[in-house]
Amino acid sequence: MNAFTVFAHRGAAGTEPENTLRSFRKALACGAEWVELDVHSVEGVPVVFHDNRLNRRTKGSGVISRRPLEYVLSLDAGLGERIPLLDEVLSLLSGKAGVNIELKGRRTAEPVAALLADRLSGGAWTPEHLLVSSFDPAELSRFSRLMPQIRLGALFRKAPADMGAVPPGQGLFSLHLHKRAVSAEIVDRAHGRGLRVFVYTVNDPADAARLKNMGVDGVFTDFPERFLPSRDGFPPT
Ligand code: G3P
Ligand code: MG
Repeated sequence: MNAFTVFAHRGAAGTEPENTLRSFRKALACGAEWVELDVHSVEGVPVVFHDNRLNRRTKGSGVISRRPLEYVLSLDAGLGERIPLLDEVLSLLSGKAGVNIELKGRRTAEPVAALLADRLSGGAWTPEHLLVSSFDPAELSRFSRLMPQIRLGALFRKAPADMGAVPPGQGLFSLHLHKRAVSAEIVDRAHGRGLRVFVYTVNDPADAARLKNMGVDGVFTDFPERFLPSRDGFPPT
């Protein structure tokens, strides 16, 4: 990872339908070297979608993890894009960008680990291009037991009062903090434990510069084009 890492949040969610292949293509076109995405499990298949419920981003309804996969894949997630499988996004990003997979839904650790094991054994991915995070320490622990070689990020909406709150286990690499939760003190404490600190969601480059001065190691942004030199053109083919 770079000295200061820019994660394209849900792809290029500021300008494209979030968490779609189109959004990830835009992120690549912006020069993103790391992409963040959210995963739920539908019939045991990891799909890329942020919300628990389908209604904000699609005309569908209900809790995504309780709907049939065929139904979920029939929905329009914006501009005619359907909700992608994690497998499809990994194929798109392979060899082009690293990926931070956020385990958003319940029971995502097992199917994501199975998919990544397959991709690693096929040689399409290497562990240093993967970072798996979650707000749910139990999901992270399950994932860690299955794939101890993969780096983990612990997500927090509020600053953990005590670093003891950080889930134990192998592979913890980074704290992923809401921008209102970060302080110089917590950055220093995290660094003292050998952890990186990444902050979400930062859309103003001036805020990113301030965070970098504080010692923060990277940010998640909906607008990668504001932070990165363009790699090639958009729209994608
Ligand atoms: O992973 C950083 C960020 O995506 C966490 O919050 O709600 O945008 O998934 P959320
Ligand atoms: Mg996320």
